[in-house]
This record gives sequence, C-alpha cells and structure tokens, in this order.
Amino acid sequence: MSANYRVLKDKDLEKAISPEHTFSSDVLVGLSKNIKRIPSYYFYDRKGSQLFQKIMDLPEYYLTPCEFEILRTKKEEFSRLMKGEPFNLVELGAGDGRKTSILIDHFLKRGLQFKYVPIDISESAMEGLTRFLGKEFPHLEVEGIVAEYFDGIKWLNHLNYRKNLVLFLGSSLGNFDKIQSRVFLHNLWNSLQNGDYVVMGFDLKKEINLMLKAYNDSQGLTSEFNLNLLRRINRELGGNFDLNKFRHYSSYDVFTGAMESYLVSLEKQTVFLETIGQSFTFEEWEPIHTEYSYKYLESDIISLARETGFGIEKQLYDSKKYFVDSIWRVEKAE
Ligand code: AVJ
Repeated sequence: MSANYRVLKDKDLEKAISPEHTFSSDVLVGLSKNIKRIPSYYFYDRKGSQLFQKIMDLPEYYLTPCEFEILRTKKEEFSRLMKGEPFNLVELGAGDGRKTSILIDHFLKRGLQFKYVPIDISESAMEGLTRFLGKEFPHLEVEGIVAEYFDGIKWLNHLNYRKNLVLFLGSSLGNFDKIQSRVFLHNLWNSLQNGDYVVMGFDLKKEINLMLKAYNDSQGLTSEFNLNLLRRINRELGGNFDLNKFRHYSSYDVFTGAMESYLVSLEKQTVFLETIGQSFTFEEWEPIHTEYSYKYLESDIISLARETGFGIEKQLYDSKKYFVDSIWRVEKAE
C-alpha cells in the first residue's frame, strides 16, 4: 500500500465531530461504567432548551430572578469597567438573551462602543438569539460565532485585538466538577489577554430546602428536563428507553456542595441502543447520574479565581445573597 495523506477540510471536520458521533460514544462510555452516567451537556436539544427556559420561570428556581436583580440594579458596575474604550461583549452560551439584554440596553444608552459576540456550538440557538436581538436593538453590532468557546475567542482575538468583557452567567460553571472547572477557567484565561474581564455567575450555598425545591419543582418540569435525556437517546441513537420506568431524583451533598441529579430505574430492565448495537441492563433502583450543579462559598470563589490566574474585581450580590455575579480580571505579566 502506498502512503497517502488527506487534508481535512472544514466539512470533514464537521462530520468527524458531528453531534451523533460524540453523543453515541459518550453514551456508550457513560452507560458502560460501574456507576452509569450521561453528561449534562446533552440536556440541551431543542426540547431540552425549551424546558430549561420554562424552568427559569418557575417560582422555585430562584437562580434566574436573583441574577436578573443583580443585572438590573448593578448594571453601572459593568459599564464602569470599560472606561470608554471599544470592547467586545463576548457571551458563552447566551440562551435566549433576556439577561444580556439588560446590559446591552444599558451600554447602548451610555453610548459605549462595543460589539456583541455570542459564542455557542448550537446553530439553532444562535439563530434564535440573533433574530431576537436584531429586533430588540436594530443598531447593535452583533457577530455570533458558532464554535466551541475557546476556538471562538481565539479566532476573535486574532482578527484584531480589542478588550473583552466575557459573560458566563447562570451558574453554568456549576455543571463542571472541581477539576473540570479549573481546566475550563485556565483555558479561558489562556485565550484572553491581560486586563480582559470575565463575569462568572455562581449560585451560593444556602438553606438546603430552597436548593432541593429548585431541583424538585412542584410542576415536575425538572423531572421532564432530566427524563428528556432518555427521549433524546431514543430519537438520536435508536434507543427503546421507557420513560415511565425511570424517575427523576435530585439531592444535595453537603460535603461537596453539589446538587446531584439522577434517573433511577424503577425495575430490572434491559435497554437496546440501535446505533451503538448494544444493550444495557439496569437493576431495580439503579441510578444514572445526569448532572452536578455545584453551589459555592465565598472562599471557594476566591481560591478558584486565584488558582486559575484571575483577580477578583467585584462581587455583585442580589439582596438575599443567594447568587453572585463575580467580576474577574485576567492577570498576565505583560
Ligand atoms: C443551566 C446548568 C445553570 O444547574 O441549575 C436547571 C441547569 N438543571 N435545573 C443548573 C438545571 C436542573 C442549570 N444550569
């Protein structure tokens, strides 16, 4: 055989990392483990994203109103950071853009010079977001990037460098465990420049019953959101999960500070996944771990920033001190 090589074009790369491919291999690995798990990353298909939007409107889900309150009452603190120089308002995983609208509206009224750069791997999410913002703010310069977060930021900086204000709201970091969150933050630090700012949303440790209720709501939306993972596997990987034979369970680990969500098998059963060509057996009461949502102490946030190269500029709390938007400054030797 003669040696040959192949230059990967963008199209090929797309195929090689197509969601099905990653999804099926992650599910195969996850369900083959001793303690079965599915990464929470996969919650957000179309239906899952819709369900999460509804969760944000639930009375029990205090995180969203708390962060809205912070943005509404402390928006001056954000505009003051940029001191009149042009900047990119970068957002990682913007969702529907309702929260960010508060800042965008304020920045525009202040006459700040900025471009809004949402970065998201989901093209459908990006479409909805840019349509919404185009209507809300016809004069806003928007440049959405459909890519992995760090690829997006690096590409942005390589074009021409401007100061960046990066938003990572909603306690999304809480889905990562201790090691993953440090790796994530270090990568973020790496792709930014000295003096750039990052705004991180953190859900704080609080009365345990409040947290339990937020993840076990009375309307059962969180349960639906969790079970939707199995529906997605059925649709995309040719699975035959019976959603009635699993239940949502969410508990708080006081020691690690994580709300942990599970799907628990209600009977002994075997499920077949066509695309993987394999079946998986569940014992009665055997759990699948589906999500961590870490809660933080002030001291956790301080050490997280320090260990990953950031300085804490400001801590912006809601009036109940349930949530904090923490403004970090990238510190690099120049
Ligand atoms: C979008 C990751 C912030 O962990 O609170 C809501 C997702 N899970 N209810 C969270 C979620 C269950 C949410 N984050």
